[in-house]
Amino acid sequence: MGSTTPASTGADFVVVANRLPVDLERLPDGTERWRHSPGGLVTALEPFLRARKGAWVGWPGIADADVAPFEDGDLRLHPVSLSSDEFRDYYEGFSNATLWPLYHDVVATPVFDRTWWDVYVRVNQRFAEATASVAAEGATIWVQDYQLQLVPAMLRDLRPDLRIGFFLHIPFPPVELFMQLPWRTQIVRGLLGADLVGFHRPGGAQNFLWLARRLAGFQPTKGSVGVRNRPGVVQVGDRPVRVGAFPISIDSSSLDQLAASEESARRAAQLRADLGNPRRILLGVDRLDYTKGIDLRLHAFRELLAEERVDASDTVMVQLATPSRERLEHYKKMREEIEREVGRINGEFSRLGRPAVHYLHSSIDRKDLVAFYCAADVMVVTPVRDGMNLVCKEYVACRNDLGGALVLSEFAGAAAELTSAFLVNPHDLEGVKDALEAALNIDPAEGRRRMRALRRQVLNHDVDRWARSFLEALGAQPNR
Ligand code: ADP
Ligand code: F6P
Repeated sequence: MGSTTPASTGADFVVVANRLPVDLERLPDGTERWRHSPGGLVTALEPFLRARKGAWVGWPGIADADVAPFEDGDLRLHPVSLSSDEFRDYYEGFSNATLWPLYHDVVATPVFDRTWWDVYVRVNQRFAEATASVAAEGATIWVQDYQLQLVPAMLRDLRPDLRIGFFLHIPFPPVELFMQLPWRTQIVRGLLGADLVGFHRPGGAQNFLWLARRLAGFQPTKGSVGVRNRPGVVQVGDRPVRVGAFPISIDSSSLDQLAASEESARRAAQLRADLGNPRRILLGVDRLDYTKGIDLRLHAFRELLAEERVDASDTVMVQLATPSRERLEHYKKMREEIEREVGRINGEFSRLGRPAVHYLHSSIDRKDLVAFYCAADVMVVTPVRDGMNLVCKEYVACRNDLGGALVLSEFAGAAAELTSAFLVNPHDLEGVKDALEAALNIDPAEGRRRMRALRRQVLNHDVDRWARSFLEALGAQPNR
């Protein structure tokens, strides 16, 4: 592949992600509108990038949409279009039916399809070319997530002048699982095109270093990788590639402030009233994904009600679920199972006008979400595997009243930081039930002690710190 000339008026700092921070939506009447994109990646990166006035290369969210570059506030957005077939093979196929289950501990069986792989390569090349054409000479490029793992090497080929970072937002799997991938060497080589490869946890970095030796034949450094320090190094020719751990976070102080406002208090009180002023509210907030363990928490709640350890006349569960990847079989099946379970619980334990579970299959507005966090007595976060999980951090940031309690899966990356939560193994149903019961009945002083410790962690380690630590390790200037 030949090299591309730097754009003379190009951007000095470019984020490259599968999705733009806004999604184009086509309404039934044919009109179009932009809305906030789903998922933790956008939640985390958007505030940081807006403050920095960067450029963002990404897909506009629907197939066959040809959208010209445009300004969105301080951001310059560069849409990359996907045809319907590419959406099916690159996004639904290779990204979300091969890599997603493989990287999440094969909780669903990954499909290995050669056509999907070919399209993944082609689309990654398109993202690399789009980025090469918008980046200024010597610009810093930050490539995001599993959908674009070939972009670092492709981009380096096109534009050797660029400084390239890559960050993986989902878990990097154990090497035994990664080795199943027929295209494992190409992926490792694709990532090694970056100057810095970042993971949430040191374990992911350590796994990648092992694979760089085993699959690409390089000699990585041997010491253990630390959190935000002691990155490993792989020498690729004359180029050192750093490999480190950078746990992502949220814009903690802005959520803290929003939650402390009178409006949030008013909305939270209204919410409680709308729910019939129950004594206790349990809350789940997730993309509707089979990795999130929504079924497990519903099951635990049903058994607690059946065993009369929780009383439906004074306790309700609210589950907010953003629609996600709706055409994929695993997602359809999981949605059916969850909705059947909600129906079963409500059939058995609700009274007229007082459902035991309130289930909303929709994405809700930020201010409403904050009100839910403020109103919830117990936040239930039970993924069977999650790279980080931002929802639990958002809950903690919203609890400046030191109220509430967090039940958190050990298998979320956040568990390593939020050690004062009620940590659970989501596969251990009795353990989850015990933790839910303990959290519902926590002594207020003990609850405040735990929440204070959780808040110290989340407020001191916000998304700005994450981005700065990554960009400093990349050798870029975070303030530019
Ligand atoms: P993932 O990236 O896998 O979706 P995260 O927990 O890291 O998981 O991030 C999810 C983000 O999406 C959070 O910022 C959360 O507030 C938001 N979110 C999840 N569900 C909803 C919902 N129903 N309505 C609005 N926002 C939601
Ligand atoms: O954080 C994981 C992630 O897959 C992001 O890459 C993505 O933007 C988000 O979750 C939402 O998923 P999707 O883009 O497939 O709707």
